[in-house]
Amino acid sequence: MAGQGLTGSYFLAVVLFSGILDASLPVLQLRAVVGEIFIHELEREGFLDYFTDHSELSSDPPITFHANLLDHPDLPQWLRYIQRTPFQTGYLYGSATDREIGTQTIEVTAYNRDTYETVRQTLVISIVPSPDGEMPYQADFFVKNWNVEEVLPTEVHELFQQAVDSMWEQEGLVVVNISSALDRGGRVPLPIENRKEGIYIKVSSKDPFTECLTEAKSSENLHRCKLEQQPVITCYDSFSPRFRVDWCNLTLIDLTDVNATEMVTVFGDGVLEPGPEFNPPEDAPDRLFFYDFLLTFLLPLIFGLLLCLILAYIMCCRREGIYRRDMKTSDIQMVHHHTIHDNTEELREMSSTRDVPRPLSTMPMFNVRTGERINPMQNSRYDSAQVPLILAQQ
Ligand SMILES: *[C@@H]1O[C@H](CO)[C@@H](O)[C@H](O)[C@H]1NC(C)=O
Ligand SMILES: *[C@@H]1O[C@H](CO)[C@@H](O)[C@H](O)[C@H]1NC(C)=O
Repeated sequence: MAGQGLTGSYFLAVVLFSGILDASLPVLQLRAVVGEIFIHELEREGFLDYFTDHSELSSDPPITFHANLLDHPDLPQWLRYIQRTPFQTGYLYGSATDREIGTQTIEVTAYNRDTYETVRQTLVISIVPSPDGEMPYQADFFVKNWNVEEVLPTEVHELFQQAVDSMWEQEGLVVVNISSALDRGGRVPLPIENRKEGIYIKVSSKDPFTECLTEAKSSENLHRCKLEQQPVITCYDSFSPRFRVDWCNLTLIDLTDVNATEMVTVFGDGVLEPGPEFNPPEDAPDRLFFYDFLLTFLLPLIFGLLLCLILAYIMCCRREGIYRRDMKTSDIQMVHHHTIHDNTEELREMSSTRDVPRPLSTMPMFNVRTGERINPMQNSRYDSAQVPLILAQQ
């Protein structure tokens, strides 16, 4: 019993300890060069030893990572993270730009997905400018048969670099950027074996493009691309079969051109240059508004007065209007009288000569269904007014 209690309290102490101190790996110092791909592997093995729970169940536990800039929720813009499954290596990768020169501290948290234990690691990345200076000639390749995390191990992207080397003879070739096609609008491939997302690899050099590279952009090949045919390139053998480069999606960027024309932004001191000020004209000609006044006030007034006069004349002097011209008032009354009289006479005559029987429906006591007619006088005993409403009470 005492032994059990001891182990129990020991376990509690470990849990408390790990809770308070949060197991963490030693701080790692890293270096990133502007304009070159930076890759850091988050190896599962490195973190495994720091998890305190070594039960048999989790001898090879699934581990996932979370990385963020210190005191921030997410990674800096230039850095990306990928881990395909919890049983594979995670990668931090990206390409820093001039704006990021300095030191950045990245916090990595590893989660044991079986025990929910966490282990922390701090990475201090010093970002330094490129020692080689500018590399103005850049080529962006689209490789169809790789996933991004497969290319990130050094030996793989060095193979690719060698393949480019044989095409583009120059001094030093640098891989600038590696990104998944998914980051650039690509589609997730169907879950069929050997279908890959595809990657974009950008390499840069000090030396201009060779004919081998520019060949892919010849007008003839561009036309073939439009027809969805493979362009004809004489020296692309160095890539296949390992790297299936889509030559139609090759982008060649010549920064020397761009720099000379567009990229140069000149910032002013924020103060407007002194220039000619606006001088208001001193002697504007006087304008006469009298006629405008007459037009807007007097014209409607005169028009209104005229209407008033006409109306007054009609009301006072010509009150009886049209009738007066032809006949006297008594004549009109006589016409009215005669019309009414004649109409009444006519109606009387019409009613006396009527010999059509009255419609059945107007007869009293007419049965609608049988058409039977009962003389209301004979059945006066059954006058509805004398029949009790509720028979059962009789
Ligand atoms: C690298 O690629 C990513 C994804 O396409 C892009 O967002 C980023 O701007 C690129 N970085 C450089 C320095 O080209
Ligand atoms: C390849 O480039 C063409 C245009 O040049 C574009 O329409 C197409 O989406 C690109 N394909 C991929 C997978 O990026």
